[in-house]
Amino acid sequence: MSVGIDEISFYTSNYFLDLKNLAARQQIDSDKYYQGIGQEKMGMPAPDEDVVTMAANAALPLIERVGPDAVSTVMFATETGIDQSKSAGVYVHRLLGLSPRCRVVELKQACYSATAAIQMACALVARQPEKKVLVVASDVARYDLSTPGEATQGCGAVAMLITANPRLVELDPEVGNYTEDVMDFWRPNYRSTALVDGKYSTKIYLKSLKQAWEHFREVSSLAFSDFQHFCYHLPFTRMAQKAHKHLAKVNKSELTPEMLDLQIEDSLSYNRIIGNSYTASMYIGLVSLLENCKQNLSGERVGFFSYGSGCVAEFFSGRVVAGYEQYLHGARHKAMLEARNEVSYEEYLQLYNDVDPVDGGEHQKQQGTTGRFRLAAVSHHKREYIAC
Ligand code: HMG
Repeated sequence: MSVGIDEISFYTSNYFLDLKNLAARQQIDSDKYYQGIGQEKMGMPAPDEDVVTMAANAALPLIERVGPDAVSTVMFATETGIDQSKSAGVYVHRLLGLSPRCRVVELKQACYSATAAIQMACALVARQPEKKVLVVASDVARYDLSTPGEATQGCGAVAMLITANPRLVELDPEVGNYTEDVMDFWRPNYRSTALVDGKYSTKIYLKSLKQAWEHFREVSSLAFSDFQHFCYHLPFTRMAQKAHKHLAKVNKSELTPEMLDLQIEDSLSYNRIIGNSYTASMYIGLVSLLENCKQNLSGERVGFFSYGSGCVAEFFSGRVVAGYEQYLHGARHKAMLEARNEVSYEEYLQLYNDVDPVDGGEHQKQQGTTGRFRLAAVSHHKREYIAC
């Protein structure tokens, strides 16, 4: 019996800022963003949108297919949680009408936690193969204005059904891990934006890749040349290109520009126009690979590098299942991305400054999302979510 990803769907906001616009305001060359960090647009959540509504929107098509009683566990991965105590997944559970007999939990370790959720989901399914676990990863990447991180903001959510005999990607049980206590990126409880030591974070990312890969090689018989494609954690797409060159060098493998393109480029298309979505980022990269690769991926081996600042990293592998293309949501994803509205720099600032009220009063949220769920109000310190 194999275990892995049976279905995958993602969601992002209907608003985006073109980084040409940001560059113009900063009076810098837009190629620094388009070429230097490999990002063109960044998603900005609507005032009535957060990690809960995005996650519910991502998961809805999966639940509409399998039915609300099919899911035994929801694992919600995020680093932009909305409550220190209650799992964001419990709101999603209600919005999707899931069974009261379904367990729900939230996981955190920066951008890595969706991978932890998947590994735990695989273990649950291996123990009870008839179960389906819903893993959702949802985040809003926010940095202070006028900092180097600003251009790497974004938002998005991904939902995955983890099952036995999956229809998309079978995951191998061998994984390589690397953990080290470092301060490359963090967000204290009292802040709504992340703090980051940007250049250091890219170095730690590459160090973790080498370490996780070396551990993977100790436990798996797979070598670098056994992989046809790679999905990297995507804080910005240039990071993946640098990472892949680094991994090829570690393996003393020649990597021509054509090979670099073939092995990672299709996984970057969606992230380049969405931005960083932290926990969801690498998995939106996987959707991008599956939906944008012109060649048939059936039977091909994919290497995954998941990285969460702080830091925890994991290298793992999977194989694309024959016939996978019938079960993708490509047309819907592309239509969603094409229907987004570009915001001006002033509108971007308005969205950026629309932070949650903290006074306990009654606050209706301004309508903006075109998704199926919205945060209608924050009243008496309670968040009120509704289906549209
Ligand atoms: P910066 O200082 O603004 O950028 O910050 P830079 O000056 O280093 O320029 C970036 C690249 O653009 C350079 O290329 C320049 O040469 C090039 P490189 O040397 O890297 O190859 N460039 C140009 N290219 C073409 N035309 C031009 C031009 N001008 C310059 N005109 C930094 C960059 C990534 C540090 C910043 O964006 C940042 O702090 N981002 C946030 C942190 C981050 O994303 N870190 C990534 C690793 S950590 C991670 O992935 C975890 C994370 O997702 C969080 C989590 O786990 O929860 C962040």
